Amino acid sequence: MAIKNMMIDLIKKLPKAELHLHIEGSLEPELMFRLAKKNNVSIPYKDIEDVRKAYNFTNLQTFLDIYYAGANVLITKDDFYDLTWEYVLKCVENNVVHTEIFFDPQTHTARGVSFETVITGIKEALADAKQKYGITSCIIMCFLRHLSQQAAFATLEEALRFKEDIIGVGLDSSELDNPPSKFTEVFKKAKDEGFKLVAHAGEEGDFSYIYEALDLLAINRIDHGVQSINSAALMQRLKEEQIPLTVCPNSNIALKVFETYQQHNIKALLDYGLNVSINSDDPAYFKGYINQNFINLCEHLPLTQKDIITLVKNSFRSSFIDNDLKEAYLAKVDLALQ
Ligand code: HPA
Ligand code: ZN
Repeated sequence: MAIKNMMIDLIKKLPKAELHLHIEGSLEPELMFRLAKKNNVSIPYKDIEDVRKAYNFTNLQTFLDIYYAGANVLITKDDFYDLTWEYVLKCVENNVVHTEIFFDPQTHTARGVSFETVITGIKEALADAKQKYGITSCIIMCFLRHLSQQAAFATLEEALRFKEDIIGVGLDSSELDNPPSKFTEVFKKAKDEGFKLVAHAGEEGDFSYIYEALDLLAINRIDHGVQSINSAALMQRLKEEQIPLTVCPNSNIALKVFETYQQHNIKALLDYGLNVSINSDDPAYFKGYINQNFINLCEHLPLTQKDIITLVKNSFRSSFIDNDLKEAYLAKVDLALQ
């Protein structure tokens, strides 16, 4: 399907919010090489071409193995600053005016890099993004679900020192066999501490994982959630309650959640009336930032201009910003449409 220039223009000109972005997944190969050299960390690639060839995934786990190996090059506060700053520049390029980024503290603390090093680097880059470009942001820390709930409790404990910098907690990593129910108590504690709650659910795991995230973890948003299509009762509930699903099309294709863009169900979810948004997940690994996700979908699915506008407005509606800022951003979207 040839995508019309008009659609590309619309995608580019609309201010957007991004709600599902792993900062470690925005590590571009060029920066990976630079940091590997600087920090004397060995990486299993001889050049950038070699890296690109390795980014040939067959499922979530084959990606995660490479993603965690890549994160090993991140050591100092400046490394986390540079990582985040490069993503900020992509936000500018993609007209992302508000972003809620995930980080995985356990990936770094397990290597002896302190929680403080990680969060300070990220935070300083985001402060500069606000100052230089007016980009607003929040930080969400994710528990690695392949690790124990006890390890998640220890991470939550550490995070309390940085509570004012972290808006919420999430759940990521290997979904299959690590259902939300494994983390019921730690999410309860996080809620009591005042954190917003999100969880990856229904990416590779079936729709029962989405029910668990809703009923056991009491999450505010579902990350991915595309398997909801397999339960009529769940679809009805997600619609009624307008629970946000942060969908990541390029990721879903790269990790073979759907074989092709034509088979992606976002248009079906949208037509049913679910609150879905478009996000880039791990853009350095999945070939493209947020605009490219929109463009790839439009090339293969009959998304209308109205659909694009709904997806973009949903991104602001589902964000964790206060209502005044939400309204201001929604007004900016309308202004861009005039
Ligand atoms: N799913 C689960 N864990 C992740 C992902 C994802 O898409 N990206 C980074 N960690
Ligand atoms: Zn994700």
